[in-house]
Amino acid sequence: MSGIRPTGFLHLGNYFGAVRNYVRMQEEYECYFMVADLHSLTTHPDTKELKENVHRVLSENIACGLNPDKVALYCQSHVYETSELYLYLNMLAYKGELEKTVTFKDKVRQHPENVNAGLLTYPVLQTADIILHRASFVPVGKDQEQHLEMARNFVKRFNHRYGDVFPEPHAFNFGDELVKVPGLDGGGKMSKSENQYATIYLSDDDELIRKKVMKAKTDNGPAAPNSPRPDYIENIFGLMKLVSSTEVLNKFEMDYNNCSIRYGDMKKQLGADMVQFITPIREKAESIRNDSKYLKEVMEKGAAKARKSAKATMELVRQAMGLNYF
Ligand code: TRP
Repeated sequence: MSGIRPTGFLHLGNYFGAVRNYVRMQEEYECYFMVADLHSLTTHPDTKELKENVHRVLSENIACGLNPDKVALYCQSHVYETSELYLYLNMLAYKGELEKTVTFKDKVRQHPENVNAGLLTYPVLQTADIILHRASFVPVGKDQEQHLEMARNFVKRFNHRYGDVFPEPHAFNFGDELVKVPGLDGGGKMSKSENQYATIYLSDDDELIRKKVMKAKTDNGPAAPNSPRPDYIENIFGLMKLVSSTEVLNKFEMDYNNCSIRYGDMKKQLGADMVQFITPIREKAESIRNDSKYLKEVMEKGAAKARKSAKATMELVRQAMGLNYF
């Protein structure tokens, strides 16, 4: 089970860090992937663009290979059982531990004018999402580790008080590679918060992709054979590793090591390979987004699967909690 916030556009970092894992998981596990529209209300109370954003995030994930026939792909707000479980879990979550959450503290700092109770209990809602399906594996990035630790604590508390209903959820990845997708500004990883030109979105058109790549920082090249690579150069190689062929990568590594590298050529090649990688995804996402009938079917089918699983869990929950008076 995992959740995707419908805020911001999907970028290359999301693709290699998350979506690619979902696509792989769908072959081996019973999967629930959810658009976290309720979570977005904690920070984005204005819902004018919500529908468009939900449609876009669904389209982009399907274009990346998520198959709505293999997984339950649904919207959080379509599964009312989430809100019921969230309420019960709120009685087991302490104010003190919620206030200590790093993401909460960050958001308080960023938006001191909107410190609402939903923001405080964000990890409780996330726990409800996960354990509603009694899920064990949660494919998420490092930034979600604390939320998962809290989820395990709430689960332990529930099970201890009311009896064993839930497995403890853990972060999941395929072990081998936790890829870092470097940004194009020589800095850290690609993310929504970085500057526009550092990040390549799956919705960028060909020219914009090439332009962003060409703007990446370089220098005059190494002065001596087999020199270590500065961070901003290493980043360009890192991106090449993700989207270019081994031959192309090897060629430029050799050129670097014997000091004959021409960064203009390297970036031109990377731009072309990046375009080749993204264009089919962008075009597919566009055509899905324009097909509202198909999107409606996806959401209905997903909600039906998710609610079936949610109903079964909630019967166990009410039973365990003694909320059965007949
Ligand atoms: N908090 C997650 C994020 O910011 C999104 C999310 C909501 C989620 N519910 C979830 C992730 C359940 C995993 C499981 O990315």
